[in-house]
Amino acid sequence: MEIDESRILITGGSGRLGKACKKIMPTAMYPTRKDMDIKDNDSVRRYFEEKKPEYVLHLAAKTGIPPCEEDKKDAWASNVVGTRNVVETSRDVGSVKLFIYLDTACIFPGDDGEGAYDEDSLPNPKHFYGLTKLIGEEIAKSYNSSDMQVIIVRTNFTCMPWEYPKAFSDRFSTYLFAQGVAKGLLDLVKERPKLSVVHICGNRKISMYEYAKAGGSDVEPMTMDDYHGAPLTRNMCLRSKCWKMYRLEDSDWDDS
Ligand SMILES: NC(=O)c1ccc[n+]([C@@H]2O[C@H](COP(=O)([O-])OP(=O)(O)OC[C@H]3O[C@@H](n4cnc5c(N)ncnc54)[C@H](OP(=O)(O)O)[C@@H]3O)[C@@H](O)[C@H]2O)c1
Repeated sequence: MEIDESRILITGGSGRLGKACKKIMPTAMYPTRKDMDIKDNDSVRRYFEEKKPEYVLHLAAKTGIPPCEEDKKDAWASNVVGTRNVVETSRDVGSVKLFIYLDTACIFPGDDGEGAYDEDSLPNPKHFYGLTKLIGEEIAKSYNSSDMQVIIVRTNFTCMPWEYPKAFSDRFSTYLFAQGVAKGLLDLVKERPKLSVVHICGNRKISMYEYAKAGGSDVEPMTMDDYHGAPLTRNMCLRSKCWKMYRLEDSDWDDS
């Protein structure tokens, strides 16, 4: 389907995925936090009333497990209240046909043996970040209607170059690079499948170490036995029952 890219509004444009979206969708709208603070309903309404977008990709969030544990109030305000502000305004402004909410594989417990989580797998987040993202997902879903389709996207990516000297050879996911996820989002906007939850993920399970190497990073392998800290998930693999799965190699890893 032909779309007018300038009618796409993308929140969180200064973030990792937002920057990758800018490469793929350069003429979309990318409000900064100054233009529109998602925690402030009035500023969200003002921005939407002025711009009247047709498509909304809601990426803005307080991300990361430690920051959300350290400031739960802000995590709630950003990921739960902020999502409600953006999705409710999207409905009320009347111009939005498609609303996409970005969720994370972290809503799953990460202990599913050798398997992979699909769109119907049961969420069971192990931390506050995952919990707030899951509640945001449920709020977004509740605004789905014949006037405004809501699609929940769950995915797993990190930015390159790898930010640590080592990477686990025994923690796994079906990772994509941020630009691969951005391409998947554009596919959804163009194709508008009649789906309510879509996993945008890679088609093969790889370790963090393999992923970092594939992203051109010079890292050493380590195992979870070498690590002493908060409990970590071992297997965050996603798969999709209803959507294409992507090849890691098909997207540029350079997120700078
Ligand atoms: N990174 C991952 O591994 C991963 C994996 C799966 C899913 N996701 C999801 O994908 C989305 C994007 O993740 P990311 O890694 O790109 O995030 P990120 O790099 O942490 O960026 C977060 C973005 O949200 C914006 N933001 C936060 N609070 C805001 C507020 N109150 N008002 C307006 N903007 C606000 C930030 O703006 P400022 O620059 O002003 O702070 C920034 O642009 C998130 O919804 C995340 O949950 C991430």
